[in-house]
Amino acid sequence: MKKTLITGGAGYIGSHAAKALSSLGREVVVLDSLVAGHRDFLKWGEFEQGDLADSAFLKGVFSRHDIGEVLHFAAFIAVGESVEKPDMYYGNNVRNTLNLLDAMLEADVKRLVFSSTAAVYGEPVTDVIAEDHPLSPLSPYAWSKRMIEQMLADYDHAYGLKHVCLRYFNAAGADPDGEIGERHQPETHLIPLILHAALGLRDNITIFGTDYPTPDGTCLRDYIHVTDLANAHVKALEYLESGGASRAFNLGNGNGFSVREIIDVAQEVSGKDIPVTESERRPGDSPSLVSSAKAAHGVLGWNPQFGNVRDIVRTAWDWHQKDLA
Ligand code: UFG
Repeated sequence: MKKTLITGGAGYIGSHAAKALSSLGREVVVLDSLVAGHRDFLKWGEFEQGDLADSAFLKGVFSRHDIGEVLHFAAFIAVGESVEKPDMYYGNNVRNTLNLLDAMLEADVKRLVFSSTAAVYGEPVTDVIAEDHPLSPLSPYAWSKRMIEQMLADYDHAYGLKHVCLRYFNAAGADPDGEIGERHQPETHLIPLILHAALGLRDNITIFGTDYPTPDGTCLRDYIHVTDLANAHVKALEYLESGGASRAFNLGNGNGFSVREIIDVAQEVSGKDIPVTESERRPGDSPSLVSSAKAAHGVLGWNPQFGNVRDIVRTAWDWHQKDLA
């Protein structure tokens, strides 16, 4: 059986995908520079340490392993940082993906599942976002993902490289077995930061913007459990293997939770009082991002198991207590 190459497989979502594939008996090769990934998340498959900027290394990976398809997670992911340092995002995300695609073509590997993002939609013009919603990125990070989606469309047209773009809404939670979880350096995401505050590792949680056109004035996000995201990658691979056409799928639960609601859930789950401060809006943030994931349900046969936001926060809380002990 051919192996699946997982770029960024030592990162948050990539490591959960490595676990999901391995548990189904698939052979995986994790490619990670460990700039943002974690050595202790390397629990499944073989490991190749290196950077997608290094074409000779990439060529070596494809010659050492019989790769059938690629799951491409490796990327910089912080919206705020991308506004300050666009060169990092266009270099690491766009240019390095081009290197990956060219190495794939050279090795005649023609299937790729790409980690895209709901941020490609920008400010929504409908309450719920389906895949045909206009794309209008608000940050260099989101633009980098949008540009890669376009590159993939063009590589399919010209070279027959088939792809699925998975547009994640807000990935959250942790492996229910507690083997891996969310750990970013620095951490910028809402749920981990709230839980750091619950553990007394920071003084409070700051709400970025309380004057949005939403019911309580704070941003709405559609939180989706990382294990459900990982399982969607398995479904996307199966879809491509059975001859599915290149396309994008949203991955979310279809429910928007405000920043204040998430803080309330975290207080309830952790049993801790979490101090809150309020500040200005964060540049590049969309007021509301809520998915329709009907296509992923209908076409991929994807069914999230952790649809309840309390379960999502609870698995994150279990992981953070252990990881930060
Ligand atoms: N937020 C705060 N305080 C914080 C951190 C975040 O109020 O300390 C708010 C943000 O302003 C936002 C919400 O909480 O309204 C969620 O913020 P995150 O940083 O956790 O997530 P984002 O929605 O900004 O971005 C995440 C991923 C992106 C992806 C996007 C898609 O990081 O890669 O979800 O919805 F594009």
